[in-house]
Amino acid sequence: MPKVWIEKILDKPELYLLRVDDNQIKYFEATWEIPEGITYNAYLLKLENAVVLFDAWKKDYTKEFIEALSKLVDPKEITHIVVHHTEPDHSGALSEVLRLNCYRAQIIGTSFAKRLLEAFYGSKAVENFYTIKDGEEMKIGGKTFRFITVPWLHWPDTMITYIVEEGLMFSCDAGGGYSIPKTIDDSDEEVVQEYLPYVTKYIVTVIGHYHKYIVQNIEKLKKLGIIEKTKMILPGHGLIWRKNPKRIFEHYEAVGAGVPKRGKVLVIYDSMYGFVEKAIEIALDELKKHGYIPVVYRFTDKEAPAVSDILGEVPDSEALIIGASTYEANIHPRVRYVLYEIVDKANYEKPVLILGAYGWAGVAGREIETMIMRSKFDHVDTIEARGNATEEDEERIRESVRKLIQKLGK
Ligand SMILES: Cc1cc2nc3c(=O)[nH]c(=O)nc-3n(C[C@H](O)[C@H](O)[C@H](O)COP(=O)(O)O)c2cc1C
Ligand SMILES: [Fe+2]
Ligand SMILES: [Fe+2]
Repeated sequence: MPKVWIEKILDKPELYLLRVDDNQIKYFEATWEIPEGITYNAYLLKLENAVVLFDAWKKDYTKEFIEALSKLVDPKEITHIVVHHTEPDHSGALSEVLRLNCYRAQIIGTSFAKRLLEAFYGSKAVENFYTIKDGEEMKIGGKTFRFITVPWLHWPDTMITYIVEEGLMFSCDAGGGYSIPKTIDDSDEEVVQEYLPYVTKYIVTVIGHYHKYIVQNIEKLKKLGIIEKTKMILPGHGLIWRKNPKRIFEHYEAVGAGVPKRGKVLVIYDSMYGFVEKAIEIALDELKKHGYIPVVYRFTDKEAPAVSDILGEVPDSEALIIGASTYEANIHPRVRYVLYEIVDKANYEKPVLILGAYGWAGVAGREIETMIMRSKFDHVDTIEARGNATEEDEERIRESVRKLIQKLGK
């Protein structure tokens, strides 16, 4: 049974968090391995003559959502439903809410959201839909709701709501992260420290393809002066930020921009029988001699790390080393897939060194090189050994690692 939280966040105005801890999920978006789970956060705000629901939960938890919501309000009494983003991890339970509400509430969202809601849940779901314009303000229950579009965080439909008088920012996917934190907010530093790497993993796997929009949209919010004034950030996943609300956007900006941690080099490789591994071990030795801290992920006949975890390591790495064997005149399938996802989701201007091993005709090195050349990554060198690396290969590998280090300006 998933844990359900019904927590009062503010007394005046009366604000509640409705959170479900999804510990059943294995692959977010049917792809990303998240043994750490995820939470879906919805919020309910009771104002004078208005009851506002912000988003909902995934469809699988509809029954739990209705039960939790009904403890706070009769669904018929909800006057407004703000839909920040229609991805069904937030909108899945809405159909049932609307039915119980007898379609009385006004639904508020972007024009994109309207189209998507209709596509997902039928025309009845958008009968009472109000389409906002970017920056539009609306008085609801005596408070000023400002709606700001943040396209591609995470879909084209996405917006945030800022309640001017209270400094409350409902941010949906933006500001969210994976895992099931044991608190609801950022009050406990230990919880925050444990949570932030899951935020990075979430950003790369979910929003990574659009990571330049993270920087752009945060810039937009800064220009509007909103981030400065925000007292609380209430995302659709993970922790609420109220001790230090700026911190989550600083983290998002750093990940979006790929700000590196000094000394961290991400090393990813496959090795079927140990030959690529030998080349990698030479590189690791050279890296360590120069004081670098390699973070290593390897695919062997005994281990296959989660691709989602590897992706989460890219933004704060200074450089990457990719090792691959040639497999049926191609890149080994595991590294092929990882690389495809890195170039798609974590495409940053970082130096990359390619190492490889082949039997009769090396192809992997050249193929990886082509992918890297077409991306934002900076290709440093490609060294491939025929099977077991010779002393000559060893010298070339050490030399290329030194070349990589030079690129880092040390
Ligand atoms: C299933 C399989 C397919 C392979 N395909 C190729 C190939 O197309 N071209 C080639 O030069 N070597 C090929 N090889 C040989 C490997 O690339 C070579 O043995 C390399 O040294 C493997 O390194 P590893 O032991 O670290 O995986 C293949 C090996 C296997 C097991
Ligand atoms: Fe989303
Ligand atoms: Fe989401």
